Amino acid sequence: MGLTEAESLKLNAFFGTELPLWPFGFKLNNPIFAPVSERTILKLQLPTDPLWVKNVVESNIEEILTDHAFCEQKAASNAITLIVQNPNLSDLVQEMTALVQEEMDHFKRVHDIILERGYVLGRERKDNYVNELRKFIITGGRRADQLVDRLLFSAMIEARSCERFKVMSEHINDQQLAEFYRELMISEATHYSTFIRLAKKYGDGINVDKRWKEFLAYEAQVIQNYGKGETIHG
Ligand SMILES: [Fe+2]
Ligand SMILES: [Fe+2]
Repeated sequence: MGLTEAESLKLNAFFGTELPLWPFGFKLNNPIFAPVSERTILKLQLPTDPLWVKNVVESNIEEILTDHAFCEQKAASNAITLIVQNPNLSDLVQEMTALVQEEMDHFKRVHDIILERGYVLGRERKDNYVNELRKFIITGGRRADQLVDRLLFSAMIEARSCERFKVMSEHINDQQLAEFYRELMISEATHYSTFIRLAKKYGDGINVDKRWKEFLAYEAQVIQNYGKGETIHG
């Protein structure tokens, strides 16, 4: 399923490029069509096997929706934490405020689908993927180092969520969800880009590209154990 012309234009405007675009090629050597400053650094190393959608997602829609709703809530909570920890960084506060609103809008839309289908939102599921990723964030040291790591951790979750939504939108046998996930993957791609931009803005001499590559290598190890369970990152 390709992007419509309007979506391509919207993404072109966002990414500031005339190149044909999609930020995730999923073939390992595909060029990455993000802004020049970001182009070299976005490369998820392991694509999700579409069989995960066929074998796991389609038979566990209620589970997936509950987990997905809480992914959106956690994305909003993470953005709120960033605001609380960095009130003096005005651009970050502005960007995170907009992100909180968008993530909670996603939460509501997932919740609406849950209700439409006669389900009730379950309790939050453990997200082992995110917990393992979090261990890579440095503790101690300079404040700027910690902030960059937190932003790159956030970017990584957005990037992987975007990839999962793309695979779901292309393979799920459910028209409503295929369209929904297609729309959300575009949104998560823009969030990824926001976090990378903020990491570079507030990186204060830190080599963000180099640190991102370290995150990618670590994520590639972590994700090997996932893509089998009935959660968004599972
Ligand atoms: Fe979202
Ligand atoms: Fe997001």
